[in-house]
Amino acid sequence: MENTSLLVTSALPYANGPLHIGHILEFIQTDMYVRFMKLLNTNVVYMGGADMHGTPIEIKAKAVGEKPRTFALKFYKKQKEVLENYLINFDNYYHTDTPENQELAEFFYTELKKKGHITRKKMTVMYCESCKRFLPDRFVKGSCPHCGEDDQYGDICEKCNTVLKGIDLIEPHCVLCAKNPIQKESEHYFFTLKKFSKRLETWMNDPESGVQPEIKNWLCGWIKNGLDDWCISRDAPYYGFEIPDSVKETGEKKYFYVWLDAPIGYISSTKKWCDKHGKDWKEYWYKGRVQHFIGKDIVYFHYLFWPAMFMGMDIPLPKLLTHGFVNVNGTKMSKSRGTFFTAEDFLKLFPAELLRFYYASHLDTKVSDIDLQFDDFKAVINNVLMGNLGNFCYRTLTFAQKNYDSLDENAVEGALVKKINGLIEKTKKEYNVFNFKSAVKNILQIADVGNAYFQKTEPWKNKETSAAQVNFCVNIARNLSILVQPILPEFAMKVQKALGEKNLVWDDINFQWKGTVGKVAILVTKVDKVPEMKESSSKNEFPLHMKVGKIIDVKNHPDADKLYVLKVDFKSEKRQVVAGLREHFYQKDLEGMKAVFCVNLAKAKIRGEVSEAMVMVAEDGEHVELLNVGSAKVGDDVQFEGLSSSHKEVSFNDFLKIKMTVKDGHVIYNKAKMVTSKGSVKVKKVKDGSKIC
Ligand code: MSP
Ligand code: ZN
Repeated sequence: MENTSLLVTSALPYANGPLHIGHILEFIQTDMYVRFMKLLNTNVVYMGGADMHGTPIEIKAKAVGEKPRTFALKFYKKQKEVLENYLINFDNYYHTDTPENQELAEFFYTELKKKGHITRKKMTVMYCESCKRFLPDRFVKGSCPHCGEDDQYGDICEKCNTVLKGIDLIEPHCVLCAKNPIQKESEHYFFTLKKFSKRLETWMNDPESGVQPEIKNWLCGWIKNGLDDWCISRDAPYYGFEIPDSVKETGEKKYFYVWLDAPIGYISSTKKWCDKHGKDWKEYWYKGRVQHFIGKDIVYFHYLFWPAMFMGMDIPLPKLLTHGFVNVNGTKMSKSRGTFFTAEDFLKLFPAELLRFYYASHLDTKVSDIDLQFDDFKAVINNVLMGNLGNFCYRTLTFAQKNYDSLDENAVEGALVKKINGLIEKTKKEYNVFNFKSAVKNILQIADVGNAYFQKTEPWKNKETSAAQVNFCVNIARNLSILVQPILPEFAMKVQKALGEKNLVWDDINFQWKGTVGKVAILVTKVDKVPEMKESSSKNEFPLHMKVGKIIDVKNHPDADKLYVLKVDFKSEKRQVVAGLREHFYQKDLEGMKAVFCVNLAKAKIRGEVSEAMVMVAEDGEHVELLNVGSAKVGDDVQFEGLSSSHKEVSFNDFLKIKMTVKDGHVIYNKAKMVTSKGSVKVKKVKDGSKIC
């Protein structure tokens, strides 16, 4: 008999970089649930993929001078590989720039439109005059209008998770050139979210929907403040699917906003898989159960837009589970502190199962963050996984293998069997409600029972008469291998292999096993060394490496009115620099000038021209001037007094975060003065308090 289908997903990570151990939390959480469901013989499939569209990819691709699709496909392939190494058992891992996704995005859009859930209206959007382009979403940064957090993108505030519009940002600037954008009118498509407010409220308050209490609070707040209709289109240029009939209707090409087609990627991944297996995706999405796993930063999209679209389409609503973020040693992962680990790097240090076990031991249904403390990690692996569970299974199986040709009898231990069966039932319940932490606790208690029994029996004293008792322990180990399989699939496989079995399921749990125990492989690797964290040196370190350079050639940028392409001599080398100085200086004013350049900025292509450094200027709205280095020589270092300069590459966004200002004709950072070996760097015309950029 075919039971109703269950479809499970993890959020589709952006294909704009390697996965890190934060992303891996979600995949492990989802995978454990799927594996558990498979153990129960549920008709379950696990669908996912990479999110290819939108500004996160476009910006990164631009920086390395690649086409967005080419750039993103590389990361999609890498993601697929690394996920396999973490034993994440997808039925299909696809991506969103596919014919299936385009077809389904258009299907959803046209259906919603037919049903009157799509409107069109003029709105104000950000436009950068110097880059000559619209600035959707992550092309613009500024402070959050809700919580005031600075340096936030135009799509969402990382601090308060509020979905934003570019024009709402306080003090916005263009991510490409740092200039202030202007506002332009443009006609856009909207999904009528507001109309669904009441229904969303009813849904989230219905205990059946299973919305976690913390999430309910956020949703309540957002709904109480009033939902706006949701803009689902973007102006060109944009990496995404063109909206059907947009040219006819608005006179311009418009594209689907990435967050329209991204979640549809869940469905198109299903469709791709169904097409291959002779099934119908609608069986899963219209008639089955759907369970999404997501992180707390994308709640707005998944609990408002997504279910409202389903309501509009008359599709039954999915269930959702939200997890918190992974921190490392108590703080947000950070490259400079040495606490940022890509999924690949982490595997070079430890086998995947260690992270799976660690995460499982910390995961419940709260939305709070999970701290990967390395001391704790070492203790959990060595003392708990190895010391308890691993030790019991390994010692039991090894003892049986060494001392008995065959185990044909089972000790009758009614009371213990009852106790263990109780713990097995609890484990099942906890898995069912995503409470992996408690599932682990129950499993460990069973191993404790086993260990105590083995210890009390002392089979090494009288091997002949202890065979039945040893076999009882073998049966406990066998059952444990099934219970722990969702968390530790390889561990489980090794135990089962020693018993001449494989792929055992929940129904195989019993105390009847008899036979010959073979050699068991090492089940757990001990953790010896954990990575050391660097002391934060930010206090005495300035993130930029600055040098005196001499401008030896100035050309107009072939493709941008406001940009020059400079050739700059740094003595040891010459570099090309793209600079937005054309409105302020004639070519001959710049030729032969010395100036301060930041030389550890990530290389970027600016409208087709490579830029390998950044000229630093003082600007106050009236004047723009190069920083005056006096008699310092070409190639000399420029520093802030008392601070060492980092030579690590910085991104343009990090560059923008650094606040340097003019005071009394000097350049100041955190009270320190910008100097060369020949004295302080001077600013002549630009007013005090102005910024250096
Ligand atoms: N592309 C969107 C999701 C589209 S789903 C239709 C996206 N991508 S992401 O790469 O930024 O994040 C993918 C998932 O990883 C999200 O669920 C996000 O919450 C999660 N995480 C990203 N960083 C994380 C941590 N540091 N810790 C835990 N989860 C994290 O958002
Ligand atoms: Zn905010």
